[in-house]
Amino acid sequence: VLVAPPTPPNPRGRDPRAALRPLRAELHLPDEPPPAVPPASPQELVAAGLEAGATVVSVGLGDPGVVRHLARGAGAPLVAMAASVEDAVRAVQSGADVIVAQGGEAGGHRSNFDLPEDGDVPLVGTFALIPQVVRAVDVPVVAAGGVMDGRGLAAALALGAQGVQMGTRFLVAAESGATDGYRRRVRGARDTETVITRAVSGRPARGIPNRLTAALEAAGPPALGWPRQASASADLRAAAVREDHPEMLPLWAGQAAGLAGDVGPAGRIVQEVVAEAAEVLRTLAPPA
Ligand SMILES: Cc1cc2nc3c(=O)[nH]c(=O)nc-3n(C[C@H](O)[C@H](O)[C@H](O)COP(=O)(O)O)c2cc1C
Repeated sequence: VLVAPPTPPNPRGRDPRAALRPLRAELHLPDEPPPAVPPASPQELVAAGLEAGATVVSVGLGDPGVVRHLARGAGAPLVAMAASVEDAVRAVQSGADVIVAQGGEAGGHRSNFDLPEDGDVPLVGTFALIPQVVRAVDVPVVAAGGVMDGRGLAAALALGAQGVQMGTRFLVAAESGATDGYRRRVRGARDTETVITRAVSGRPARGIPNRLTAALEAAGPPALGWPRQASASADLRAAAVREDHPEMLPLWAGQAAGLAGDVGPAGRIVQEVVAEAAEVLRTLAPPA
């Protein structure tokens, strides 16, 4: 569950709805999107998840304290994603039982709690972040960002992490909701290809640029703020998914996307990653 509080509209940006009209026309959508449905609160989402049988509460993009009481009440561990040492410490003070340390390589939304109003969000690479978070907190740390295979898992363990959270690798899993066009773009991505943009949702996220992000970027800083900026393109993105139009849906992916590899069931990917990590660790530490 994403717990970032709403951010104010940025008056220096232009209305994203106007910027998207040419793309909407190509997908035969009316000029204006339907009125935005107010999003459910993090508390409502976590409560619904727990009622449906969830046994872990995992949050990103902000202080986990806002759902701590719900996790504790259900006896569910509270996992929080943080992108800096300061945010990791803050998350533990707010009740996090596990920290997912998210390096700057990671695909999708950045988990920095506080953002500069304009300008770049601080990016700490996974290799620098993990050992510093491990030193700073007394709970298990899970490494996220750029881990695509067993080599990455072995490296994360060497840096002091207890496990890894992989996102981009699973975009090509059999169970993934990513369209075929999205999968092709992920597998073919170069190391330098992904960028961070606030234009889609109002908060920074890493992905492969396309016509959707170009049109929204051209409109300037997110005029509607988080999360309302995302509602401006919600029906367009849904239509782009239905029609598998990879230029008009957000292609969230990390810097190591080009290592995404073969399509296969998620369970098999996990088994292969674990087996490869064991092999790598054996090779690095041959018996005396
Ligand atoms: C398409 C996509 C969607 C994601 N959605 C979420 C999400 O809803 N909640 C979350 O906490 N993290 C989300 N993440 C981020 C991952 O939790 C993780 O930080 C990241 O994927 C790790 O880096 P990697 O992409 O290099 O594996 C998403 C990542 C991707 C690629």
